[in-house]
Amino acid sequence: MEIHYTEREKFIFNIISQASTQLGLPCYILGGFVRDKIIGRPTQDADIMCVGDGIALAHQVAALLQPRPQVAYFKNFGTAQIKTEDLEIEFVGARKESYRDHSRNPDVEPGTLEDDQLRRDFTINALAISLNQTDYGTLIDPFNGLRDIREKRIQTPTDPLQTFSDDPLRMMRAIRFASQLQFTIAAGTFEAIRQDAERIRIISQERITEELNKIILSPKPSVGFNLLYKSGLLSIIFPQMVDLAGAEYIDGKGHKDNFHHTLQVLDNISEHTGDLWLRWAAVLHDIAKPATKKFEKGHGWTFHGHEVVGGRMVPKIFSRLKLPQNDKMRFVRKMVELHLRPISVTRENITDSAIRRLLFDAGEDMESLMTLCEADITSKNRQKVKKYLENFELVRQRLKEVEEKDNIRNWQPPVTGEMIMEKFGLPPSKVVGDLKNAIREAILDGVIENSYEAAYSFMMEKAREIDLVAVK
Ligand code: CTP
Repeated sequence: MEIHYTEREKFIFNIISQASTQLGLPCYILGGFVRDKIIGRPTQDADIMCVGDGIALAHQVAALLQPRPQVAYFKNFGTAQIKTEDLEIEFVGARKESYRDHSRNPDVEPGTLEDDQLRRDFTINALAISLNQTDYGTLIDPFNGLRDIREKRIQTPTDPLQTFSDDPLRMMRAIRFASQLQFTIAAGTFEAIRQDAERIRIISQERITEELNKIILSPKPSVGFNLLYKSGLLSIIFPQMVDLAGAEYIDGKGHKDNFHHTLQVLDNISEHTGDLWLRWAAVLHDIAKPATKKFEKGHGWTFHGHEVVGGRMVPKIFSRLKLPQNDKMRFVRKMVELHLRPISVTRENITDSAIRRLLFDAGEDMESLMTLCEADITSKNRQKVKKYLENFELVRQRLKEVEEKDNIRNWQPPVTGEMIMEKFGLPPSKVVGDLKNAIREAILDGVIENSYEAAYSFMMEKAREIDLVAVK
């Protein structure tokens, strides 16, 4: 097995080898670094496992490097870390672990290389490379991890029920790796996830969400979501998404399966953006469809207002999933609320003012909104898809024309609240807000153009109507 190291990696691993000989502590590269090197994925960190004191080895390595790096170490965990350019190295002593039943915190005792490989989550993560002088560079692969990488398979090194019961987060990790690497999960391993799914409840929400985000950021996130769904994990960690699944029929009329549709939109958008939050917008764009679903006789299924109700669900879902409650959340909410608007302006005879309002509401996120809307086209009818895409192309053109004329996207009021207060000698008050809004509405409606002069005379006219007297 040929592994291609960078010059920097070769240099560092040689130094580690020297240090381990000096201390008489056998050591190995283990885990994700080895896996990613074999697969050919970029790597930035390497875990070094030594049979003995990992912190002592880290200090010895630091002493051999110029300039001498800082060693950050955690006595309680027996781990140490050195950051060098391009590579972060983590040192740890080999361990044997046994876990108590209702906790993630293992009882740890020193162990051998074999003990340490045995306690790993998956065969592909249990590969080691020796850094010892006698067999430097040799791959040590007791669980056929190399075969599983070649055959694109995720499976546990030992009894999967034991592996998942030791640390239930591994169920999420199995699915995350399957989605990231486009591997399949071995039948026995997947069956164990199905059986053990309930145990995910003992894991902190932050760690679950970290894995969920990695699934969303994977090349084809539907792979991960389908596995989460089939394993039963999704209904525990994100029940609102499971509510989207299935189609109901009344009078022979059905609606589409919105779970399936959402995943298609997510896969579509993932071909155009690596932005986590825009991908989250795809996940949540139809989240309120189950809550707003109605069957109207003679008409069929409707989901009126699902974009508004969905927008309101965003902060609650973000809070439950411990996602940030900041501008990222507001962005996702805005995308959900606006996701039908570009479609509504594809209708004929649409006025400039509808386009201006869309530009005003979407602001700097207009491009992201168009990306979401284009991803939302999931019809199997090629003719239809072509027509929708052409319509959106027209919308883009209209947006461009109106934007060039009126400059609405980065909206700055041509007459500000301060100017109004100064002109009429007013303190901050409702009347100032009313005047400001009236000016904005007049611009968006196309009553006046977006310029200082037009806004100023409009303001004076409105002031006369309500008997406001200028003091300047
Ligand atoms: N590991 C494990 N069980 C876990 C977490 C980690 O057995 N719940 C082991 C695996 O051998 C893994 C190694 O610890 O390869 C390092 O874990 P981590 O850095 O979290 O993951 P990586 O495998 O490096 O992958 P990524 O960086 O993509 O998370």
